[in-house]
Amino acid sequence: MQLSIIVPTYNEAPNVAELVRRVTAETAGIDAEIIFVDDSTDSTPDVVREVAASAALPIRLIHRDHRTGGLGGAVLEGFAAAEADACLVMDGDLQHPPEEIRDIYARFLRGDVDLVVASRYAGDGTSAGLADRTRVLVSKAATALTRAMFPIRLRGVSDPMTGFFLIDRRAVDAETLRPRGFKILLEILARKNLRVAEVPFDFAGRHAGESKASMRQGMHFLTQLTALRFGKMSLFAVIGGLGALVNVAIVWALTQLGVNYIVAAIIASELTIIGNFLLQERFVFQDMKGEASGVWSRFIKSFTFNNTELLIRIPIVALMVSGGHISAVIATAITLFVAFIVRFVFHSLVVYAP
Ligand code: GDD
Ligand code: MN
Repeated sequence: MQLSIIVPTYNEAPNVAELVRRVTAETAGIDAEIIFVDDSTDSTPDVVREVAASAALPIRLIHRDHRTGGLGGAVLEGFAAAEADACLVMDGDLQHPPEEIRDIYARFLRGDVDLVVASRYAGDGTSAGLADRTRVLVSKAATALTRAMFPIRLRGVSDPMTGFFLIDRRAVDAETLRPRGFKILLEILARKNLRVAEVPFDFAGRHAGESKASMRQGMHFLTQLTALRFGKMSLFAVIGGLGALVNVAIVWALTQLGVNYIVAAIIASELTIIGNFLLQERFVFQDMKGEASGVWSRFIKSFTFNNTELLIRIPIVALMVSGGHISAVIATAITLFVAFIVRFVFHSLVVYAP
């Protein structure tokens, strides 16, 4: 077997026959199989069995009773079950045109990469098939955010959220992956350095049936991003926490020396901001520095952000206490937490942007 084509399906009964017809036409001359990894509650499994009986290429059905790991989990089960090491993953609704398979496979056969990504955002690729403008915007924003958060691993990958790719499954360490929802390729890319090539494609409209994308998938995606980036975020939090302690210590020492409280607070804050910057350069974003702007430019951005944040946080706490009848401690805690998240995102996306 040269090529295993893995198709995750969740209620795609009206699409199966057309998909198999077009894949069969495209894979003439290639020793290929199709594996449907199915979590459906409709008649998809029956349709797959029926189509398989008269198909020109081997078709297998893995029907799962529990949607473990959703779409991503289904893809990993497909890898495990595949006959070939070359595993092509595509959606079951024909948004990924089977007519691209030959190009993708040909690129893979050149042998210099582990992964070929079919990209909506490379060359003359398009995302025309996304249902509406909102989804186009959401998809683009999510892609930009993700690429900014993984500038090194995602270098050269314009579409880390695509579900259309061909991978040498020997390059995947399945044990390290935590599939959650839709974005299995992102999970694979973020965990390991792979040699990647891209092939542009036009994301088509759905052939039939309804999309399973939802708010819930969006939430899965955000948790996945956080989990993948958690290492950086927790270091960033530790440094921020240390900075806060040092800040208090400096204020205490200076006031002991007779320095006015406001002056002491200003000196302590500025010293902490500078100290935090140096620590995060060294320990948090060290792998992103090379791609970002120069150190002074990074410093000015970080310094300006932190001072602005400092200036607007105090009045916001005051407003919450007077207007929202929240206790000062809780208001401070909430604003500090929000500020931490915003600060982290700002540093990832702006200060250390490639
Ligand atoms: N086995 C299984 N289990 N398959 C699933 C599940 C699940 O829980 N949820 C969805 N699928 C299947 C669908 O049946 C379809 O074949 C494919 O996964 C993609 O789902 P769609 O409902 O068509 O979602 P989409 O069009 O919004 O998502 C596509 O575009 C995204 C980029 O915009 C997918 O290609 C995603 O992988 C891609 O990230
Ligand atoms: Mn779809």
